[in-house]
Amino acid sequence: MQTILVTGGCGYIGAHTIVDLIENGFNVISVDNLSRATDKSLLGIEKITGKKVKNYTVDLTDKKATEEIFIENPGITGIIHFAAYKAVGESVELPLDYYENNLFSLVHLLQMSVKYHVKHFIFSSSCTVYGNPDTTRVTEATPLQTAASPYGATKQMGEVIVKDTAFTYPISAILLRYFNPVGAHPSTAIGELPIGRPQNLVPAITQTAIGKLPKMQVHGTDYDTRDGSCIRDYIHVCDIAHAHTLALQYSIKNNQEKSCEVFNLGTGNGITVLEAIQAFEKVSGVKLNYEIGPRRAGDIVAIYANNDKAVKQLGWNCKYGLDEMMLTAWQWEQSLAK
Ligand code: WQD
Repeated sequence: MQTILVTGGCGYIGAHTIVDLIENGFNVISVDNLSRATDKSLLGIEKITGKKVKNYTVDLTDKKATEEIFIENPGITGIIHFAAYKAVGESVELPLDYYENNLFSLVHLLQMSVKYHVKHFIFSSSCTVYGNPDTTRVTEATPLQTAASPYGATKQMGEVIVKDTAFTYPISAILLRYFNPVGAHPSTAIGELPIGRPQNLVPAITQTAIGKLPKMQVHGTDYDTRDGSCIRDYIHVCDIAHAHTLALQYSIKNNQEKSCEVFNLGTGNGITVLEAIQAFEKVSGVKLNYEIGPRRAGDIVAIYANNDKAVKQLGWNCKYGLDEMMLTAWQWEQSLAK
């Protein structure tokens, strides 16, 4: 059985990806310093898969501690690297924390991949790398603009670091650019656990609907879009998770020595904020308490994916539509309230 090291394995996308990897026959170990996640996710993973996943509570910016994991686990086939700080607003306040954490941990992991001959490396990137693109429906070849935040810059730099490493060393790398991951596993055993007041749209919706937040704001309806609110490509976290398994299988099957490929992970559908709220109200039966507020600094007007490359080359197809994204997010929020 091939062993995969998942960093950030206790996090939102990490936990869902571990479930998918196990369901597809991989043995998984996790490393997560629990600075932004709880190891309760491991209980949820066990509930779904029946497997106990070991987590190393190690900070990947500690090179020595990181190496211990590779010494203790010889023969790791691949790494899926999620562990990073990812709050756009926080990255503007604490840029050096973001550069240190997100880039030092990546470099250490790649150094260990080279030293311990781990051939397959999947990097968690983001549509944020496109900045404010000239075209709203972006392909992997769409030129990258200047990142809108230090967080986005760490993803752009991370992609370059991975690409340069794969150019020199016998590593097969894949960069996965997520659009907006939302929703939760249908079992409600795992889901998104935002720390503090949620910045992202869907947790803000569900926390308002359940009464954790008194109301929420729509950040601007004076944009040049069909209803004035921003357009994003919301994609179910389980579809994102399965894309990682397919990317790994693709990399193992192709067995390229030195390669670095990029894939957009979005549904290809652009949805406005107001449409997302309407979909939530429809599936939950809850009238959402929101008001229209001013634009949010750093927001781009519209971006969504051309996902043809992932569909064709990875054989990936999104299974979840907007209603199921909203329903599973709502069911997860309700499960937390129990
Ligand atoms: C979506 C839309 C908001 C909250 C960011 C990162 C991206 C990824 C996902 C990490 C925007 C509007 C939001 C609210 C609102 N993160 N909104 N009221 O900014 O597209 O992407 O998170 O990988 O990298 O950049 O996602 O969910 O914050 O916002 O009106 O209370 O919802 O203004 O138009 P975003 P988001």
